Amino acid sequence: MNNNADILIDIKNITKKYDNGFTALDDVSLQIKKGEIIALLGPNGAGKTTLISTICGIITPTSGSISVGGFDTLKDYRDTRKMIGLVPQELTTDAFETVFDTVSFTRGLFGKPRDNSIIEKILKDLSLWDKKDNKLRELSGGMKRRVLIAKALSHEPDILFLDEPTAGVDVELRKDMWNVMRALSKTGVTIILTTHYIEEAEEMADRIGVISKGRILLVEQTSELMRKLGHKEMIVEISEPLDTLPASLQAFDLTLSDDRKFITYSYNANQEHPGITRLLKALIDADIRTTDISTKQSSLEDIFVNLVRDAA
Ligand SMILES: Nc1ncnc2c1ncn2[C@@H]1O[C@H](COP(=O)(O)OP(=O)(O)OP(=O)(O)O)[C@@H](O)[C@H]1O
Ligand SMILES: [Mg+2]
Repeated sequence: MNNNADILIDIKNITKKYDNGFTALDDVSLQIKKGEIIALLGPNGAGKTTLISTICGIITPTSGSISVGGFDTLKDYRDTRKMIGLVPQELTTDAFETVFDTVSFTRGLFGKPRDNSIIEKILKDLSLWDKKDNKLRELSGGMKRRVLIAKALSHEPDILFLDEPTAGVDVELRKDMWNVMRALSKTGVTIILTTHYIEEAEEMADRIGVISKGRILLVEQTSELMRKLGHKEMIVEISEPLDTLPASLQAFDLTLSDDRKFITYSYNANQEHPGITRLLKALIDADIRTTDISTKQSSLEDIFVNLVRDAA
């Protein structure tokens, strides 16, 4: 990243060792640009919530530093916290308060003047307006999650952290929430979300960071990562082991297995003409008989597995 002025959040070599000695973040560095939507993907226990909590100043890192809008998250806690809205992973709401009051109250906690029209807009955007006088205990799980988003937006933050915002939310509502996030992004809000859903990351994020065992294994443009996810392999089992691949097959991206009984063809599932028909014809022309064919597509899980293995 060459233009430093665009960088809103600068995470430098963050390590977090919890009191029990467990290292949840291990030398994490990441720069997030203003207006960006970035998704953090990673298995349970990867360190996503720890990372978010550290940026928000809720957890103190063991070493390293984070600046938000040029302010240090430790030294200038008040300045950075004001800029941030956080939707926590855990559903914690005060059961007996009403939707409107809890959101309005949260705005006050951030020292912002009471403004009913802003709260009304937020609740309408999140399809919660008709529930504004309901007590929180009278809401469904998905509605409670939206109330948490409303609370996080109540003080009009520049940065919104969403820790698994759509866990336990139905498909329809998930789409509504994606639209809310997109609309916020258009107004210039920088969004960092964690998710286990690859389609959510693909749909929402400009960039995707993969995190595992406290380390960031990769941060990439979503389109680039999706291209990699399109990597597919066709495995052809042949009746007679081959010594070498014939020259007539050189045009294809092929590898011969060590036991010489399998030919693997690598191609991109997103491309229009993957060349399978041509390959099969070329095999027949080369007098290579096939006994079985199977295909394998790399999934996010494969990417995880490969990354984690390479990192070990
Ligand atoms: N207060 C704590 N004390 C000790 N270890 C902790 C503490 N909080 C979290 N951990 C450990 O740190 C690791 C990372 O936890 P974290 O909650 O950041 O993961 P996550 O990526 O958010 O996972 P999930 O997808 O399940 O939400 C886990 O192994 C967890 O057990
Ligand atoms: Mg978490």
